[in-house]
This record gives sequence, C-alpha cells and structure tokens, in this order.
Amino acid sequence: MTTGTSSAEDRGAIRLDIGSDRVGHLVFDRPEAPVNLLSADVLRSLDSLIAQLESRIANGQLTSLVLESAKEGSFIAGADVGEIGGVSSLEQARTASAEGQRIFRRLERLRVPTIASIHGTCLGGGTELSLHCDYRIASDAPSTKIGLPEVRLGIVPGFGGCVKLPGVIGLQRALDMILTGKAVPATRAKRLGLVDRVIPRHERERGQREFVADVLAGRVPKAEPRLSARDRLIESNPLGRRVLFALAARRVREETKGHYPAPLKAIEVLSRTHGAPPDEAYRIEADALAELLVGDVSRALVRVFGLSQDAKRALSESVLETAIDVDRVAVIGAGVMGGAIAEIVAANDIDTVLKDIDRGALDAGLRHAAELLRKAARARVFTEEEAGLKLARIDGRLDYEGFEEVDLAIEAVVEKMAVKRHVFTELEAVMSPDSVLATNTSSLSVTEMADGLQRPELVVGLHFFNPVHKMPLVEVIRGNRTGETALATAFRFALRLGKTPVVVADAPGFLVNRLLGPYLNEAGRLLEQGLTVEAIDGVLLEFGMPMGPCRLLDEIGFEVATHAGREMERGIGERLAPPGVLDRMIEDGRLGKKNGRGFYLYEKGKSTGVDPSLADVLGPRSGEMEHSEIRDRCLWPMVNEAAWALDEGVVDSPDRVDLAMIMGTGFPPFRGGLLRWADDVGIGIIFEGLQKLESQLGPRFAPAPMLRELAGRNGTFTHPS
Ligand SMILES: NC(=O)c1ccc[n+]([C@@H]2O[C@H](COP(=O)([O-])OP(=O)(O)OC[C@H]3O[C@@H](n4cnc5c(N)ncnc54)[C@H](O)[C@@H]3O)[C@@H](O)[C@H]2O)c1
Repeated sequence: MTTGTSSAEDRGAIRLDIGSDRVGHLVFDRPEAPVNLLSADVLRSLDSLIAQLESRIANGQLTSLVLESAKEGSFIAGADVGEIGGVSSLEQARTASAEGQRIFRRLERLRVPTIASIHGTCLGGGTELSLHCDYRIASDAPSTKIGLPEVRLGIVPGFGGCVKLPGVIGLQRALDMILTGKAVPATRAKRLGLVDRVIPRHERERGQREFVADVLAGRVPKAEPRLSARDRLIESNPLGRRVLFALAARRVREETKGHYPAPLKAIEVLSRTHGAPPDEAYRIEADALAELLVGDVSRALVRVFGLSQDAKRALSESVLETAIDVDRVAVIGAGVMGGAIAEIVAANDIDTVLKDIDRGALDAGLRHAAELLRKAARARVFTEEEAGLKLARIDGRLDYEGFEEVDLAIEAVVEKMAVKRHVFTELEAVMSPDSVLATNTSSLSVTEMADGLQRPELVVGLHFFNPVHKMPLVEVIRGNRTGETALATAFRFALRLGKTPVVVADAPGFLVNRLLGPYLNEAGRLLEQGLTVEAIDGVLLEFGMPMGPCRLLDEIGFEVATHAGREMERGIGERLAPPGVLDRMIEDGRLGKKNGRGFYLYEKGKSTGVDPSLADVLGPRSGEMEHSEIRDRCLWPMVNEAAWALDEGVVDSPDRVDLAMIMGTGFPPFRGGLLRWADDVGIGIIFEGLQKLESQLGPRFAPAPMLRELAGRNGTFTHPS
C-alpha cells in the first residue's frame, strides 16, 4: 500500500518506496512467507535502509516515513523464534538484543516524522519497532492485534519494549501488557494511547494518507499516556511506583508459584529503567533478556513453541490438499461438549447447526454457547456486536433439515456405541456423500463406530478437551479405515479453529486420556493407602500441574473416570485398572464436581475445599509420605505409559507426546513436557525406580520395552542421539 512510486530500493524482506509526494514507505514483505518476522537478516536490511534514509533526509528528499506491511493480516509477528532457540551464550544474547535496540534507536532519531501503520498482528519485535516510531496508526481489522507476548517464551521484550512502553501508555498498563503477554485490538490500543488513530480497514490507504497529511500540517498532537488523575499521581511519585511494583510482584509470585522467572524480571526491568538515562535503561533490558534467554525455562518454552509450529505441519501438503472445504458444520448433541464446540465453530465465523433430540438439552446448549460468546466479548476477544453476529450463526434444531448442506458433522452425543452408530447412520442418510463424519468420543473405538456405514472412510475422530474454548489440543483420530480426505479435513478444521491438532491412532484412551489413566489411578491408590487429598494434590500442584489429580478426578466425574478406566483396562491391560476408591465414592453418592460432592465439596460450581468427612468413606487419613515419592508414584507410570504408546505407534514421536500433554492436560510448560522432564530426571533413574515399585507394589509398574532399551543405552526420549 504505497502512493505513486518514484524510486524503490529492495532489500529482500523490506522495500523502500519513495512516492512523488516525498513520503517514504518501508514495506515489510518477507518473500514466500505468510508473516513478517524480524530475523537477524531483516534487521541488517533495516539498518542499511535507515542509513540510506538518513542521507535522503539530509538531502531533503523525504518529508516523512511510513512503516507498513504488504502481508494481509500480519504487520510483523515478532522476532524469529527459531533464531531465539539457537542462541547459546549470554554474550550472544546480549549482543543480539543490543543490536536490535541500536537499529530501532537509529530509526527513532530520523529527522522526519515516522509512522507505524499497523494492519494485522503486531507482536513482540514488531510492537517494539512501532514504539520507536513517532506515531502509530492501526486498522480496525479483527486481525489487528498489538502485543508483547515475550513472557510466554520465558523472556522479556529486548528491543526496547520495556524501556519505551511505560512512556507511551503509563506504567501500570505497560506492566499489564508485558506481564500477561496479551495482545490488544486497535480500539483498545487507541484507548490506551498505544495508537494515535484507528483507521477503517476498507479505507486504509486513504486513512493513512490523511494521517500523514495531518502530521505534516501539525494537526496531530504528540500523544501522552491516557491516565486518570489518580493513576498519574501514583505513577509520578516514587512511593506510588514502589507500591505498584511490589503488588505486581506479589501477584506474579502467587500465579507462577516461582516457576517462571520472566514476569518478575520484567517488573525488575521496569522499576530499574524508570527515569534511568536511556543508554543505561537499554543496557538493563538487554542484560535481563540475555539472562532469561539462556535459562532452562525459556529454553523449555521456546522448544514448546517450536513443537506447536511443527505440529501444524504434521500432514504433508499432498494429504492436506485432499481436505474438503468446510462452510457449514453440524454438531450433534447439545450437552457439555456440543454447546461449547458449536460456540468455537461459530466464534470462527462458520455456520453451525446444533442438533439434539431433547428440547430442554438443546436450549441449554444454545444458552451455554451464548454465554461463552458473551464472556469472550467481555474479555474483549471481540465486540458485543460481533458476539451477536456469531451467535446468529448457530441454528438450533431437533431435526435434520438442511443437513444436505453440511460439510462436516461432529457428533458429541452420549458416550454409548449404539447411540453413536445410530446417529452416524442417520447422518449418512441425510448428508451429501462427500461430507465428513467426526466423533468427539473420548473412549470408544472410531473404527467400530464406522462399521456398517456405507462410507467408513469418511469417519474420523475429532477429540476436543473440556473446557473446549480454553484447551488448545484436539486429537485427530485415525480409525483403521479413515481415509486421507477425512483425516485432512479434520486436521485443517482444527487448525482453522486455532487449535493444535495431534494425529493419534485409534487405540483405547487415544493418547492424552491413556497417559492420564495411570496418573489418576495412582492418585486413587495413594488415597487407598491412607494419604490425604491435600498431600497428593499439594505435591502435584507444587510440581506445576494446573490442578492436583484428586481435583481433576472431581472435574471429570467419578462415573466417567471409572468407565474410561474400565475401557482402557479392557483394551490395554490390567495395569490400567481403575482404583476401587472411585467405586466407594460413587456408592456413597459422591460423583465429583457435577453433584457438588467429590474429594472436594462445591457450591455453585466453586470448590469450598477438601471434604472434611472423607474419612467416613475412605478411613483415617495421614499425610505421611515423602513428597518425591508421591510425585514419582504418579508421574513415572505416566512416562511408562507414554513409552508403551510410542511403541504401539499411537503417536509418532516423543515431541508430540510432550506437546499433547501440555496442550491437553496443562502439564507444566516450563518443564518442557512429560518426556523432556523424564529426560531431565534421567531415564535410567525412572527405569530403576519403576522396577523397584514393581517389586513392591505389583506388575502395573513393569517398565515398557522402550524404557528398558533407552535406559540400557543411556538414551533419551527428546534429545537427538
Ligand atoms: N464432558 C467431557 O469432559 C468430555 C470431554 C471430551 C469428550 N467428551 C465426549 O463428548 C461426548 C458428549 O459428552 P458430554 O459430556 O457433552 O455429554 P452430555 O451428556 O452432556 O450431552 C450429550 C447430549 O447428547 C444428546 N443426545 C443423546 N442422544 C442423541 C441423539 N440421538 N441425537 C442428538 N442428540 C442426542 C443428549 O440429549 C445430550 O444433550 C461424549 O462422547 C464424551 O465422551 C466429553
């Protein structure tokens, strides 16, 4: 988007156009890539273009400079995470940060007004680049989002973001943006003072031209942080700032339990750089980035980011090409999962039919979807108006009218093979012959479900996790007869919903629930041994799990957990047998969170603490066991089960296991995943530990052949040999 070009300089990923109006345009356009990234090469090009701009400005050839992107939907998506992962020393990290800072500060010193024109995602280094411009304008496109997500990679912004942002939007809001890593849409950015003007997405060229003209005519006042009188007072005095930093640090400590160093480091950087001379401030920032970048947590998080990128490329282009275009989706069953699945489909602007056989269930499902959309609007994921339009895409039905137009049906009816097969038979009769049938089953065989259908090759598993809008993983299950088209359609559809698909084989429990099985079972056995819920859950929370296994059993519900456990025992073997403790809880009328009575008690869906009367059902309790013993009892069988699953080809690599467990269960990302953690512990140690447990507690701990083999040759799951 440039005005008439009188001269152009092309440096690969960035182009300099100077229009006849003497407005310069630095256009970011990384060749053959969907988004722009600030790699070391791109930064070098930028540096040399800035040198050229300096001389052109000195010669009076330029009145102003606009920075923009030629990519639709992406301004600059940030630094190149691949390069971040390649940094191996403190010095290398510090130099890379200082170099980016130097180039951005050089841009800042140009003697013409500089304007970042943001359309699409503007993240990390992209935001930092824009912060070194005199002005920022943003399009109102839904894809326009501005943020500094560095903490999610275990680092802090290191190209001047920490130094510049507080001066633009104020200290508290800068802390909020940097600590949460959340990106804001254009309208919110305007309210924060992060952008000077929002321009309509369909008139971007004119809006940009007018803004430049207004700047040159002196009609755009220099923006100040938009703070209330109270915030201004707090932020402008040293005592107020000290309180702000202390409160932020306390909150961070509570939330991260000390597992993630980056947010605390960010607070330290913001406090030390406030009011410091610029050179010193930039140096403090570079030092902090370097320290974090070479640390274990950042390395683990960068790896996980890489794994999630790789997962998107799990299917070859030739397979992906066989996917059908999905314009209309049907979700069958409007229960807990169906309503939530319909919501994310509609949230992604895809027409959805939500069907049930029961009027009350259908209405409840529609209400659930509407509430989730309203929540997203409240969280400013989109506006109230957009939420209304998205909700209107969901058509609630009790019959199959219009199903001939449906490209993909996802059944989420009760977990009964006969009901599911009946639903598939009905769907096959009403849908077009090339449409795809997916099942959200968590424990039944996809292959068996397709038996007897006319087109079993079009049946695939699409296993979402609860809560659907929060859990990023979708297991795409390849049944024995699932064809490429069904697999590719499900995979591409999951990506379109912003989920991370992992392809798994049609084996009992698939991958994630199978690995959770021994973990939850062992927690149950520890309870049977007399341990307290507090001791078990406390140890695993301390380890970094989002909730302890007893709490997770409450969430799943004891009936569902025992049912799934028995299915896995039947299909895999005795080592997956569910513990008797769940039956005892059920016999006592305790079903878990769903009836407010599990290991914990619940009021209006919120836990009020561990049930003090548990001893009546389970016998006297004690917290006597080494923390490390509790942890290993629960986690080593999970590692062992992963080895069995890999051996059986349920999933294709240890890396995918790590990704799936993080995305599907919240296994602590800072540990890099289940098998990376196992490698860090030492496979030999886990192998011997399991052998010892086997001799003490029984054959369920017998190490899998793969574990024996790895231990025998001092191998690892996730490090290249
Ligand atoms: N709840 C979870 O945490 C979870 C997680 C992942 C997968 N799943 C799977 O998702 C599926 C649904 O689970 P749920 O928890 O939402 O169940 P649910 O009991 O809340 O909902 C099932 C719905 O299906 C409807 N239904 C039954 N027979 C039907 C038919 N013939 N046609 C249309 N609708 C019919 C029921 O009226 C009910 O509204 C199950 O296969 C389950 O294993 C559940």
